[in-house]
Amino acid sequence: MGPAYLSHFALREPPFTKEISDSDLWMPPSKEALCEELGEALEERASVVLTGEPGVGKTCVLRALRHRLPHAGYRLTYCHNATLGRRDFYRQICLALGLTPSATAAAVFYAVSTHVEELGRERMHPVFLLDEAHLLHQDTLEHLHILLNYEWDRRALLSLVLVGLPELEDRLAMRRNRSLYSRLHRRLRIGALTPEDTAEYVRTRLRFVGCEREAFTADALAMLHEAANGAHREIDRLATAALRIAARRKKKLVERDALAHVIDVEARMRED
Ligand SMILES: Nc1ncnc2c1ncn2[C@@H]1O[C@H](COP(=O)(O)OP(=O)(O)OP(=O)(O)O)[C@@H](O)[C@H]1O
Ligand SMILES: [Mg+2]
Repeated sequence: MGPAYLSHFALREPPFTKEISDSDLWMPPSKEALCEELGEALEERASVVLTGEPGVGKTCVLRALRHRLPHAGYRLTYCHNATLGRRDFYRQICLALGLTPSATAAAVFYAVSTHVEELGRERMHPVFLLDEAHLLHQDTLEHLHILLNYEWDRRALLSLVLVGLPELEDRLAMRRNRSLYSRLHRRLRIGALTPEDTAEYVRTRLRFVGCEREAFTADALAMLHEAANGAHREIDRLATAALRIAARRKKKLVERDALAHVIDVEARMRED
């Protein structure tokens, strides 16, 4: 037996969890376009930076990309532990590539670059997806462009995809990071959802767990959108809280008052 709101709204599972499979991700035209642009960049062996506010769906776009890229031809390595120093960072990349990490930074770097070259000979394009890249240590960031430099900087054997909060762009634009920034040819941004997007997103996620009818009124959706600033993670959280309140009040629809209650309680908590 799950939470009471599930049976009240006849939902098979919690609708707004992060445990959504890659194939069920909601992909409106704006996200499809982004995913396509990322795919094109990788096809051209280019490197990319993708930024956006917390919870706008950056990591989910990476998951959609992973789902769509042809398996043959690409070797994706996802790395999100960006707080490591340079040596540990390369050790982690070694482990992700199935290599035995060596003791010194130079040996680790050599192992990674040799492996990348071998993949190139097998016509496998390695892609390093570095999530939370705004947290990268400066010494790691400064070194990254060297990974993109093969055969006298004539060939791109590797694509780097740096993903992070908007401050990542600001850091990259700093003079000391210009060698890397100038090699990141595609600079993409995920913005907030539009109010129509929010309504469509909520409907889609409810539909996935068996709710075919409208569960939120138009007013409630508008309020939800505004309170969440069009960011998925906030929508997920607030929508779940509002479903809970509406169920407790035995309402068949989530109306404005349920949302107002959630927002109000949170505002009061912040004041305390
Ligand atoms: N395309 C999508 N389809 C379905 N759910 C999504 C989608 N995008 C985001 N979400 C929901 O929003 C949550 C947050 O998205 P995500 O983790 O991708 O944000 P983020 O931009 O990577 O945030 P952060 O900067 O904090 O890492 C996900 O756990 C998921 O529940
Ligand atoms: Mg993320």
